[in-house]
Amino acid sequence: MSTSDLGTLGAASAQALRGDRASSDREGGRPARARPARVIAMANQKGGVGKTTTTINLGAAFAELGERVLLIDMDPQGSLGVGLGVEPHAREATVYNLLMQDGTTLDEALVATRTEGLDLLPANIDLAAAELLLVQETAREQALSRVVQRLVSRYDRILIDCPPSLGLLTINGLTASDSVIVPLECEYFALRGMTLLMQTLERVRDRLNPQLALEGIVATMFDGRTLHAREVLARVEEAFGDAVFNTQVNKTIRFAEAPVAGEPILSYDPDSRGSTAYRDLALEVLAREPSL
Ligand SMILES: Nc1ncnc2c1ncn2[C@@H]1O[C@H](COP(=O)(O)OP(=O)(O)OP(=O)(O)O)[C@@H](O)[C@H]1O
Ligand SMILES: [Mg+2]
Repeated sequence: MSTSDLGTLGAASAQALRGDRASSDREGGRPARARPARVIAMANQKGGVGKTTTTINLGAAFAELGERVLLIDMDPQGSLGVGLGVEPHAREATVYNLLMQDGTTLDEALVATRTEGLDLLPANIDLAAAELLLVQETAREQALSRVVQRLVSRYDRILIDCPPSLGLLTINGLTASDSVIVPLECEYFALRGMTLLMQTLERVRDRLNPQLALEGIVATMFDGRTLHAREVLARVEEAFGDAVFNTQVNKTIRFAEAPVAGEPILSYDPDSRGSTAYRDLALEVLAREPSL
């Protein structure tokens, strides 16, 4: 994998955080934003690398900066909702209904979380059926894009939590996004699977979503005290160059505790290193964002 493959990184100056309020959008009474939401997918087909944790806490960091943020769960496990204190299995309407049933309104499916400025479009096990049903549909890879198009005027930022696979749900997440963040656990097999992931991004770019950029790769569960973790990070930086964010998210038990409390680490333990890391990551993302 050469770094030249990563060419579409959006490098640019830091950008103003919030659009001015404009007219109301068609669905519901909330004001539309001056600029459509930036949509970022968290993707890595490897399980347990910090996709959901990054979605929740990066989302909370953007909300802290004053953005209106929506988190979309594309994983039938429903952990994104659980981590935010929302019981997704008790919900009548979820992302499944918006994807599969034309009559579903946004307000039926969207949930406000306890964090100000942070909304959730939850998923539950129903979404596993969507993956099977979508296979037979026309434009099956664009189902989520159609939902996201209905949402971009309501939010400044939309983060999509993909499942640990490169199947149709992840392809839908990538097709609906402006860019992708890859959370990468700094352990021995970290680079395994990255070639396949990069090839998948390239294929989505070629066939479905030419604008899809690699926003960056973020080292998660990093333990800088071990030589091993530092060596893995050095190899990742060698392979991916500037695509690797300067911010690393350290390994800390706080990340296991916060979801049990049903809130982001940013509110559970605001002064922790984990909270600081996700705030720093949000600023790095803003700094990489193309200016208007
Ligand atoms: N920086 C960290 N330090 C310690 N534990 C972490 C960290 N980030 C995440 N975790 C924990 O690791 C586990 C997996 O994280 P998470 O659910 O975010 O990964 P994921 O990639 O979304 O998993 P899946 O592929 O199953 O969707 C969780 O128990 C989470 O609390
Ligand atoms: Mg997850």
